[in-house]
Amino acid sequence: MQEILSALVGKATTDLAALKTRPEFEAAKARLVGPNGELTGLMKQMGAVPKDQRPALGKLINETKGKISELLDGALRLIEVGELQSQLGPAVDPTLPSPDLGPGTFHPLTLVREEMCRILRKVGFTVADGPEVETEYYCFDALNTPSDHPARDAQDTFYLPDAARFGNVTKNNPDEKYLLRTHTSSVQIRTMLKGAPPIRIVSPGRVYRRDTSDATHSANFHQLECLYVDKKVTVRDLKALLDYIFTSLLGKDTKTRFRPHYFSYTEPSFEVDLTAHHLPKVKKEWIEIGGCGMVDPTVFEAVGYDPEVWTGYAFGMGLERLAMLLYGIDDIRYFYQNDLRFLKQFA
Ligand code: DAH
Repeated sequence: MQEILSALVGKATTDLAALKTRPEFEAAKARLVGPNGELTGLMKQMGAVPKDQRPALGKLINETKGKISELLDGALRLIEVGELQSQLGPAVDPTLPSPDLGPGTFHPLTLVREEMCRILRKVGFTVADGPEVETEYYCFDALNTPSDHPARDAQDTFYLPDAARFGNVTKNNPDEKYLLRTHTSSVQIRTMLKGAPPIRIVSPGRVYRRDTSDATHSANFHQLECLYVDKKVTVRDLKALLDYIFTSLLGKDTKTRFRPHYFSYTEPSFEVDLTAHHLPKVKKEWIEIGGCGMVDPTVFEAVGYDPEVWTGYAFGMGLERLAMLLYGIDDIRYFYQNDLRFLKQFA
C-alpha cells in the first residue's frame, strides 16, 4: 500500500505540473480526490485492511492526502498567475522612455488668433491685453452702456460676489461690481486711459456670458477687438482695414459689407458680413462676422480725449466663429474638449 501511495504522489506531481487551464485542473482534481478518484478509491479499501495495520495506514493515507492537496493548491496558483499574465499582456519596462508622440500642435483658436494678430501687426497695430475679471465701469459705463442695458442683466453676465477682491484689477469707483468681462471692448477703455492718442491696438482674449452650451454657444469664448484712434479717421478707413484683414485671412476675392446696427460705444455702428462662397460648410452667400463702428464721442469723453480733436474706429469679433468658418468646424464644443483626434487635424 505504501508503494501504491507514493507512486500516486509521484504521478500527481508530474501530472499537476503540466496543467495549463482550469478545466484541466478540475478534471485532474476529480481524478485524484473526487468521489471516484484514485485516492478516494484507496481510502475505501481501508475497511478490508486488518485492524492492527489500520492506524499506520490511516496515517499514511492522511499524509498522502495532505501532499496531494498541497500539489493541487500549487497547480491552481500557477494557473491563476498564468491567467493574470495573459490579461496583463507582455511585461512593461517602466524604465524605457515613453513612445514619442511627436511635437505638439497649436490649438485652432491659437492659430486663428496669431494669424489675425500677424495681419494686424503688419499695418501698425500692437497687441494689448486686459483683465478677464473686469468692473462694471470698464465693461459698460465707460463704453456708454447704460445701467438698464440688457448686457448688464444678471441673466447675461457673471457678476462676482460683493466681497470679492482683485488687487490687480482697479475699480473706477468703490461701489461698482466685479464681473467676468462679457466682451473685449473693455480693453479699449483701459488702453485709452493709460496713454495719449494716436492708438492702434488689437486685443484678443477670453470673454464670458451666461450662455447654455450647445453647438454654437459657450459660456466662455474668445473675441478679438481692434481700436484705432487718430485725427480724421473715417468709416472708409474702417472698411478698408476690414477688407484688408479678411482678404489676407481668407483670400483676395473675399468681400465685406456693412449693415447698420446699434452699439452704444460706436456711432454710427455696423454689423460686418463677409462673402462665404469659399468657406467650408457655409451655404449662405453672406455671413455675419462681427460688429464695428466709429468710436462714440461719449467714450472719448469718458477717457479724457477731446472728441473735437480725436476720431477713431473699433470692431470686435468672435474667434471661435472665425475658426469654425475657416476650418469647417460645426460644433463650438470641439474647441474645449482636448480631444487629440480633433486637435491633430490642425497641425
Ligand atoms: N462688443 C461687441 C460684442 O461683444 C462687439 C463689438 C461691436 C466691438 C462694435 C466693437 C464695436 O469694438 O465697435 O458683441
